[in-house]
Amino acid sequence: MTNTPPLSNILIFDSGIGGLSIADEITRALPQHPIIYIADNRLYPYGIQSDDALLTRATTLFPILESHYQPAIIIIACNSASTLILDKVRSITQTPVIGVVPAIKPAADITQTGNIGLLATKGTISRQYTLDLIAEFASHHKVTKIGSDLLVSQAERKLHGGSIEEILVERELAPIINNTSIDTVILGCTHFPLIKQEIQNVLGNKVRLIDSGEAIARRATHILSTSNKQLPLTSPTPSHTFIFTAENNHVTKLMPALHTRGFTTIKIGNH
Ligand code: DGL
Repeated sequence: MTNTPPLSNILIFDSGIGGLSIADEITRALPQHPIIYIADNRLYPYGIQSDDALLTRATTLFPILESHYQPAIIIIACNSASTLILDKVRSITQTPVIGVVPAIKPAADITQTGNIGLLATKGTISRQYTLDLIAEFASHHKVTKIGSDLLVSQAERKLHGGSIEEILVERELAPIINNTSIDTVILGCTHFPLIKQEIQNVLGNKVRLIDSGEAIARRATHILSTSNKQLPLTSPTPSHTFIFTAENNHVTKLMPALHTRGFTTIKIGNH
């Protein structure tokens, strides 16, 4: 008997709890697949890290995660990371890698006013990858970029059972609130769908919020359908595993959010 994990694991990676918004979509689309979630809280928040720090971390971490968990797919559920490290991670692993990046094209397709807001971390809005996406898919529109690391911490706070201060959300979103021609806002950070209602409350119902979650789940479904690591349809409901890369004072507070999502094993890894 070995302890080798099942080959159909889906590995979801983020700096913190933001990737749970992607895990929610994956669970909806692929309910039989066990999730291994890695929260790299050792380097959280990613949105303010230097390119060098993120690239160095990715280069050491992903080969270890790949060989240890043998996932069927790796999902980098972090825009701040994907917009920088995606090519690198693909080049040093053999597993299909899906990167979560801002949903610029879908937003460009649905805006009626041609005015889009991009709400992401400061890292993501300044990345060349993001600027290239805008140039490729939204050059005929006006894209207002808002970098907010504070909303990342507000989302973490919410999942720890804390409340979100509307005044802070309002202050962060002022460039969108003050520009009434913006009709579509991209949630370009995986933490933000977790506070979607709070963001919607502040922006009002005329503004449409979009994120990449469903598209990522569709992509994962497609990859698995063509892979020999697909599970039989009769598999039982899986239990998921959540791993922090550093000691975390908030584990107890996070338990309810993790348990309702089927994470039965929660631990600190030595990655
Ligand atoms: N959830 C991550 C993202 O999508 C970023 C959060 C952080 O700054 O660590 O960008």
